[in-house]
Amino acid sequence: MIITYTSLLLMFLEFIHTNHAIICDTEEFHIRSLRGTCTDQIVSLKDNCPLDLQRSYNCRGKNVKSISEIEGNTSYCSLDISRNSVKRLKNGTFREWTNLVALDHSDNYDMEKIESDAFQGLPNLRYLNLKHTGIHAIPYNYRFFEGFRHLPELIILDLTQNNFKSYDSIRIAVNHTRKLQYLALEGCPSCTFGPEFGTLKQLITLDQTVEKEWSYCFIETLNNKYFENLQFLKYIFLSDC
Ligand SMILES: *[C@@H]1O[C@H](CO)[C@@H](O)[C@H](O)[C@H]1NC(C)=O
Ligand SMILES: *[C@@H]1O[C@H](CO)[C@@H](O)[C@H](O)[C@H]1NC(C)=O
Ligand SMILES: *[C@@H]1O[C@H](CO)[C@@H](O)[C@H](O)[C@H]1NC(C)=O
Repeated sequence: MIITYTSLLLMFLEFIHTNHAIICDTEEFHIRSLRGTCTDQIVSLKDNCPLDLQRSYNCRGKNVKSISEIEGNTSYCSLDISRNSVKRLKNGTFREWTNLVALDHSDNYDMEKIESDAFQGLPNLRYLNLKHTGIHAIPYNYRFFEGFRHLPELIILDLTQNNFKSYDSIRIAVNHTRKLQYLALEGCPSCTFGPEFGTLKQLITLDQTVEKEWSYCFIETLNNKYFENLQFLKYIFLSDC
């Protein structure tokens, strides 16, 4: 084997790269892209962080490739891991984050896999942001979405900017999140909300707003049955559609 200076340098750089410590901040958690009259939800998020716990761990844009690179800590109520390059969420990822009330995983735009029990151990999670994560492309969507069954307390879910071609995969998911109050996702042509959505008796807000710089509205017409299973809605946002 010939070891050149270049290969030594590369090995050294690789070593530094895999051993860099990720330093995150502890600033206030910022709830992104929540529209309309959701002040109740925001208040309840804050109330659910006991005073003896730290409020927030902010790792936004720290070049995190895997959550295992960050040392878990049960003393945090919210984790912002947005704008990184996490590709996989494996089972047990949040083992050491058991007190999370809010998780922002948005803008990890190139995700490959979310294992079916990845969200296990987050019994108090109320806010989950999976905006712009490429999740529609994850093979075997149904498995992924079954993962929400570990989140019985979920009330706010953001799935926007993921190019869903159908809501069928989400049907299975929402069948387990009976406390959901706010759902954000773009409209897709000829998408329908399946009967499982009818079990979401607390779902009062549907946000299908399109952010112009990212996408355009795919809804051209709404058929008579579009809202059939969404009988409890009070607020519908369809701006830029
Ligand atoms: C968890 O975070 C708290 C508060 O920042 C700190 O005091 C404690 O040492 C941390 N625990 C671990 C295991 O890192
Ligand atoms: C973990 O993930 C695999 C699929 O990726 C799944 O089949 C398995 O049942 C999961 N759950 C546990 C608790 O190991
Ligand atoms: C939804 O949940 C109900 C009862 O909790 C169950 O009977 C039904 O099969 C579920 N539907 C799907 C598509 O998983």
